[in-house]
Amino acid sequence: MYLCVKNALHLEALVDLLIEDERIVTMTPAGHQKLPENCEVFDAEGLVLMPSFIDAHVHLREPGFEYKETIASGLNAAVHGGFGSVMCMANTKPVNDNAAVTSLMLTKAQQSHPHGPRLYPIGAATKNLEGRELAPMGELKEAGCVAISNDGRPVQSSEMMRRIMEYAADFSLTVIDHCEDPTLADHWVMNEGEMSGLLGVKGQPAVGEALQAARDIMLAEYLGLPVHIAHVSSALTVDVIAWGKARGIAVTAETCPHYLLLDESALEGYNALCKVSPPLRSTKDRDALLRAVADGTIDILVTDHAPHALHEKMTALDQALVGFSGLDLAVTLTWGLVKEDLLPEDALHRLWARRPGEIFHLPTNGFAPGDPADFFLFDPHAVWIPSEENLYSKGKNTPFLGQELSGRVKHHWLGGKAIF
Ligand code: DOR
Ligand code: ZN
Repeated sequence: MYLCVKNALHLEALVDLLIEDERIVTMTPAGHQKLPENCEVFDAEGLVLMPSFIDAHVHLREPGFEYKETIASGLNAAVHGGFGSVMCMANTKPVNDNAAVTSLMLTKAQQSHPHGPRLYPIGAATKNLEGRELAPMGELKEAGCVAISNDGRPVQSSEMMRRIMEYAADFSLTVIDHCEDPTLADHWVMNEGEMSGLLGVKGQPAVGEALQAARDIMLAEYLGLPVHIAHVSSALTVDVIAWGKARGIAVTAETCPHYLLLDESALEGYNALCKVSPPLRSTKDRDALLRAVADGTIDILVTDHAPHALHEKMTALDQALVGFSGLDLAVTLTWGLVKEDLLPEDALHRLWARRPGEIFHLPTNGFAPGDPADFFLFDPHAVWIPSEENLYSKGKNTPFLGQELSGRVKHHWLGGKAIF
């Protein structure tokens, strides 16, 4: 079964993409392709062609918090947002620290989305994420986990972090490290700085993130093992990562669209929709992060999709839960950076597809013959306003709710099959 997607815009060139069943045959300049017989044709005029993205850091809330998100609703948001693969964190209830929970997640994904997006669970690093006892990583890997993390609950003990890295390495699992020194700021609501002072609320200093990143990068060097630094939010952490890379340490890192687009001033007016962990920081931090994603110091983008019910967010700042719903909006938001000339278009492919594929050993589409036919078409001119009605995720908790945005994913194929 052949399909030709004609006249698509790919890195500013007009191309035709030929697919046979679930694989790419060729991508050529538009009009240069002799089509096989019985070839279905899809005219993509005016639409941008991109490889399906990988989101290496989402919270899908099932089991345990299905009122916030289910695996079905999360994967639906993913595919409509341009993601063909998502890696889901372990802070469910029960925690994903055993094979039964991993299998349940995979079964749910298979039942609701048999043709994708693909779900790749991340196992807990410690039992119940408590930081006291190692989780059974061999069992987690065998059940289908592709990485290990204590995300949401930073690991305070350096000794425990060392054991996590060593044990994970026995099973070739990368550790995704939520870096935050929990002793530096308890019950924080935002970044510590002038703005937290003005608002009179408890802040969390950026140095707490950098301190733990430095510790774990040094541990990685000492042990000769890799570490992946989660949701980097500060300029100081970027410097620590650059230092580690310059020393040849196997450190990789991620940040999220919101740290590139927003800063702590968003919390003026005590807007709890802008409360997230780690917190939005200063404009200086935001600018350093933009440079770091452009130059590759930060390897990948992730959403840290953290859906919550609106009643958990629309409350006093100190009571509100942390996190943003991200899957529906990430491509639109990062396309905005391309439009503003802050990132080249190709950087989106690198940050959202190529590098996460390399780091976590997941299949990606580089539009070469034989690659998986996983791609989406994006309308750069579609103007829309995210609302409770048009977001596919159950989580409507995004600071961009009600704001006019341009660009939206229009069609998505996975394994050569049109999902929408
Ligand atoms: O904002 C966040 N929300 N950061 C985390 O680390 C955890 C996440 C969640 O699970 O809600
Ligand atoms: Zn997270």
